[in-house]
Amino acid sequence: MHNDELRRYLEFYQDLGVKTLYKRAAPAKPVTIVSPEPEPPTMIELPPLAPAGDSMAAIRADIGDCKRCRLCQQRNKIVFGSGNESARLVFVGEGPGADEDASGLPFVGRAGQLLTQMIEGTAAKEGIAIKRPDVYICNVVKCRPPENRAPEADEMEICGQFLSRQLLTISPKAICVLGATAAKALLNTKIGVTKMRGEWQKWRDIPVMVTYHPSYLLRQYNQNAKREAWEDLKKVLHFVYD
Ligand code: URA
Repeated sequence: MHNDELRRYLEFYQDLGVKTLYKRAAPAKPVTIVSPEPEPPTMIELPPLAPAGDSMAAIRADIGDCKRCRLCQQRNKIVFGSGNESARLVFVGEGPGADEDASGLPFVGRAGQLLTQMIEGTAAKEGIAIKRPDVYICNVVKCRPPENRAPEADEMEICGQFLSRQLLTISPKAICVLGATAAKALLNTKIGVTKMRGEWQKWRDIPVMVTYHPSYLLRQYNQNAKREAWEDLKKVLHFVYD
């Protein structure tokens, strides 16, 4: 593999927050990309970059009946994403919950209903003619983590390649990231939502707004966070649709 190609791969996986690459035959043992002299460089097999002419159908086909990580063991349905595949705005959540796992659709439970209400309510109030089906909604991991636990780092790394391809294929004007887990996956940061929200970040060349996860907003004591999430959404909607 040429240096330029290798650099592109490394930048791609760095953007995904991947820190360690593994030899496929020996998953337990991390390998260094270039061995110290005088040993020759270790050959590593890297997962494919987004292929030229990628499409949502091709990404879904590549996911197939995925068994790449332990989340496959208890899932019912893979939750790929839903909405307008040419959307100007994409929302990225953490991972499916029980309702999503049963239906195969993202954000259809209580948190999803709140998200729909936030999108449609804010748009209507701001005079922006969009409804939920006009945006695209997906998650970092496509299978439900048991007991709704947060996805593990390796699960996010494995599934992150598909999220990344989805985002590159849709190529939206902005991404709205819901909650700390999705922020960590896309922006490779441990900074909390409270600190990051309200300000534009970037994933590759695409502007990113991090805001609170709707599940967090459902907790009664979060009145202030609710007001802030509405402000964030207003900012995003005007940026994308004005
Ligand atoms: N929470 C998420 O992060 N995603 C969903 O799809 C549902 C709940």
